Amino acid sequence: MQSRVQGIRQRFDSDVARAKDAAALEEVRTRYLGRRAGILTALLRDLRDAPKAERAAFGKAVNDLKAHVEAALEAARGKVSRARTAAGPIDLTLPGRAQRPGTFHPITQVRALIEEIFLEMGYTLETGPEIETDFYNFEALNIPPQHPARDLQDTFYVEGGLLLRTHTSPVQIRTMQQRRPPIKMVALGKVFRRDSDVTHSPVFHQVEGLVVSEGITFAHLKGTLQHFCRRVFGKELRLRLRPSYFPFVEPGAEYDISCIFCGGSGCSRCKGSGFIEMGGAGMVHPAVFEKVGYDPERYTGFAFGLGIERIAMLKHGIDDIRLLYENDLRFLQQFPG
Ligand code: DAH
Repeated sequence: MQSRVQGIRQRFDSDVARAKDAAALEEVRTRYLGRRAGILTALLRDLRDAPKAERAAFGKAVNDLKAHVEAALEAARGKVSRARTAAGPIDLTLPGRAQRPGTFHPITQVRALIEEIFLEMGYTLETGPEIETDFYNFEALNIPPQHPARDLQDTFYVEGGLLLRTHTSPVQIRTMQQRRPPIKMVALGKVFRRDSDVTHSPVFHQVEGLVVSEGITFAHLKGTLQHFCRRVFGKELRLRLRPSYFPFVEPGAEYDISCIFCGGSGCSRCKGSGFIEMGGAGMVHPAVFEKVGYDPERYTGFAFGLGIERIAMLKHGIDDIRLLYENDLRFLQQFPG
């Protein structure tokens, strides 16, 4: 009996010595002290069958062994956890892993700013489908069938005679059809063109504005654009209108702002001109009013368009539009907000 106890003790000592971590020690503990199949548990059960004369001595030997096993396990556990703290995977001096808060994409930020500016002025926000019909994208906007804008080179056509809208102007038509004047709306959204280089992307974002009522004049248009441009860039600047042509307005214009980088004296960003192009605008063409059943003798209105990427690029000094679509965190993290 004594030798059996002795043998178990030796085996236990070597098992403990080999256990190098908490999991291995737990396994040793179960092997020896486990309630059902533990070696010591079995030994204690055998005690009941031992001859009476030996029982006392055997009992003491088993109990001594049990005490030894428990103490040795405890000591080994302490050693393992100290070793882990000192040199192992837990280094309490390591800085924590930072959780970076998400930020809005720079385009989303500029979009929100533009919406805010027009909401302040009492405009409504309107939306329309990205897949449009020829009627809304071209015809109702007085763009005739042979117009070059309809060319396959510029427009993505999809099945069923539909197309991906090439501008947000169709939202003008949809809004005028649904409502009666006075109308004061902006529409912000994605537009699509077959175009791709440092300043053009096949998908980009535009803002379209439309105001229709009785007595709306070109002066209202100019004041609105000037206020908008000053608010969006947060600085005093001059607005310049140049005569231009868009089929859906008459007269039509392109509008520029005095260069936000040099103040108008001429620099590399404005190519020495002192001005930066912003977008197109004009007074709503009577033919457009007729398409939506408005009386052009009674109502006048102005419309304008602009690119959201362009504003984001100017505001942040970004010179390649593709940076806005690559989802490179090193780039996006520079625009917290
Ligand atoms: N739709 C034009 C474009 O995408 C932009 C534009 C020009 C909109 C003049 C207008 C406007 O409302 O009056 O190029």
